[in-house]
Amino acid sequence: MLLSELNDIKEKLIKEIEKSSNLKELNDVRINAFGKSGVITTVSKNMREVEPTERPKFGAMINEVRKTIEERLGKKTEEFEKEELNKRLKEEQIDITEPSKGLEIGAFHPITNVIDRLTDICVDMGFSVVEGPEIESDYYNFEAMNIPKNHPSRDMQDTFFITDEILLRSQTSAVQAREMEKRKPPFKIVCPGKTYRNDSDATHSPIFHQLEGLVVDENISMADLKSMLTILMKRLYGEETMIRFRPSFFPFTEPSIEVDVSCPNCHGKGCNICKGSGMLELLGAGVVNPKVLEISGIDSKKYRGFAFGFGLDRTAMILDSISNIKSLYKNDIRFLEQMR
Ligand code: PHE
Repeated sequence: MLLSELNDIKEKLIKEIEKSSNLKELNDVRINAFGKSGVITTVSKNMREVEPTERPKFGAMINEVRKTIEERLGKKTEEFEKEELNKRLKEEQIDITEPSKGLEIGAFHPITNVIDRLTDICVDMGFSVVEGPEIESDYYNFEAMNIPKNHPSRDMQDTFFITDEILLRSQTSAVQAREMEKRKPPFKIVCPGKTYRNDSDATHSPIFHQLEGLVVDENISMADLKSMLTILMKRLYGEETMIRFRPSFFPFTEPSIEVDVSCPNCHGKGCNICKGSGMLELLGAGVVNPKVLEISGIDSKKYRGFAFGFGLDRTAMILDSISNIKSLYKNDIRFLEQMR
């Protein structure tokens, strides 16, 4: 082997290094030079064949070639890595001046909020939460509630009939009858849900919501109902809330009452929310009529009960200062955004 050949090898490798256009190609050159059967490795191995007198010169030359090629490879690698980094920095650049897309934060519907708050309070008091069908039979909605066919008290609720026997429930009281048939006293249930009546103005919507409560046990009296509702109202609207019980009439309770609370907005002074009266009418209630217990197979000599029915739309409107009930049903995202 001649020194000039060694020089050729060096020149060829340098050219290959300069020609390579990425890290992978550069690595191929490295293997080609220093790999197991690379040119420089082979030349080093073949030193034996060189004349002993020539060996020192040859050795020095091989070392020089190795050093040069390693340096060149190192420099080129650095260049490629720098290029790669610059490319990534450019691609992954973040424009911190770009306006943000904004996070959409959801909100619960006011009715959902009221249902959650009321059922939470009732569950604390030992009630179970139940549900019933919105498409109901005339039997559970009326007859089992002591409202026979053609009875004048049916006029209290302008009902949507589907057939003579099937209707959209006009009161969650229908669930009372269903549960009384199923359960053995004592029990305490609340039932939130949608109800329907042919009614429509700023405070009435054909679809609305009620929360029904029913307690059946021995020795239940009007006093239990009054104290339970007082606690419930104070927890919902605040300790300072005043509660007023007025005599009323429902076919399924005897005696019956209606319950008003002091307006949470003006605390009884009178404002536009309570239309100047200082009080708001919120629910109907009463001691369950023994006839209703008997219809559903509960011994009215042994057991008594009390029941109440909350208007949830009213409650939500008062809590969230909503002036028109229709806003609750329009699905207007701008309205719901205000409920956050
Ligand atoms: N169901 C009655 C209504 O819708 C409310 C009510 C429920 C009254 C339970 C008394 C007891 O008007």
